[in-house]
Amino acid sequence: MRKLSLLVVFMMAFFMLVGCGSGGDEPAADEAAEETYETLVVGYAQIGAESEWRTANTASIKETAEQLGVELKFSDAQQKQENQIAAIRSYIAEGVDVIGFSPVVETGWETVLQEAKDAGIPVIMVDRRADVPRELYATYLGSDFVEEGRKAGNEMNTLLPEGGKIVELVGTVGSAPANDRYDGFRETLADNIEIIDSQSGDFTRAQGKEVMEAFLKNYGDEIVGLYAHNDDMAIGAIQAIEEFGLKPGVDIKIVSVDAVRGAFEAMIAGKLNVTVECNPLLGPQFYELALRAVNGEELPEWVPSEESVYYPENAAELLPERKY
Ligand code: AHR
Repeated sequence: MRKLSLLVVFMMAFFMLVGCGSGGDEPAADEAAEETYETLVVGYAQIGAESEWRTANTASIKETAEQLGVELKFSDAQQKQENQIAAIRSYIAEGVDVIGFSPVVETGWETVLQEAKDAGIPVIMVDRRADVPRELYATYLGSDFVEEGRKAGNEMNTLLPEGGKIVELVGTVGSAPANDRYDGFRETLADNIEIIDSQSGDFTRAQGKEVMEAFLKNYGDEIVGLYAHNDDMAIGAIQAIEEFGLKPGVDIKIVSVDAVRGAFEAMIAGKLNVTVECNPLLGPQFYELALRAVNGEELPEWVPSEESVYYPENAAELLPERKY
């Protein structure tokens, strides 16, 4: 009897080892075929089309998908968090392989990201970060916004060695780039420069102009400098400054962020003094990370993008090579 039960145990162990019941030649579950770009289905919840930067970013996400043969489901949330959450939920329901999104603001994402995690769908944050626990996302691909703010502060110090009063056009309230560019700028700004007002222009040209008009109405030619969290707001402000009868880039020194083509044109015209680069061409890196995530690879918490600073002196030479 004891011999018989030993035999049964031995046979069970043998069949488990050789994969009994797997149907002969079929691969075992853990040897499932790897995904490729051609089999990858990605849902991408974009913020909107608020700036030249965002237009370039969207183009990069769409064009790269086409080049690689990735199936892309794309949505534009028109700068509204509830629209982004609805888009992410629809991608979960459709069972995409990976979800990418640029969180319009930093907070309020736990519930929907937990739903994606429960559905086994990796989420990649692109461009902007959300303030969520590490286990809710596969990786974050984007810029060091604090460093961009620090660079902008240093540039303002160089432009205003005598110091003076400046104003600030902040990006979308509660967004990672607005929060971090605000903090980074203050880390490096010299003591003799005073920020006399700081208001949001929501990263758009129209609101940048509107807020700058209000600054000029309140402080007039007391203002010697402007720090804009993106080029679009700076370009709107340039118009307001000219309409007020002052010379942008001369009477009011201007430092902004992004380095889009419009900023290069403004530098060539002598109306913008410096632009700090924020790279929107994230498509190729995004799909590479998406494929790695879906194939089960552990990804780093943050994949930073490389960036530079540009000045009027070589703007004309560089403009033809700019891709955004
Ligand atoms: O998140 C990146 C920021 O969003 C860009 O600096 C700005 O132009 C955009 O709208």
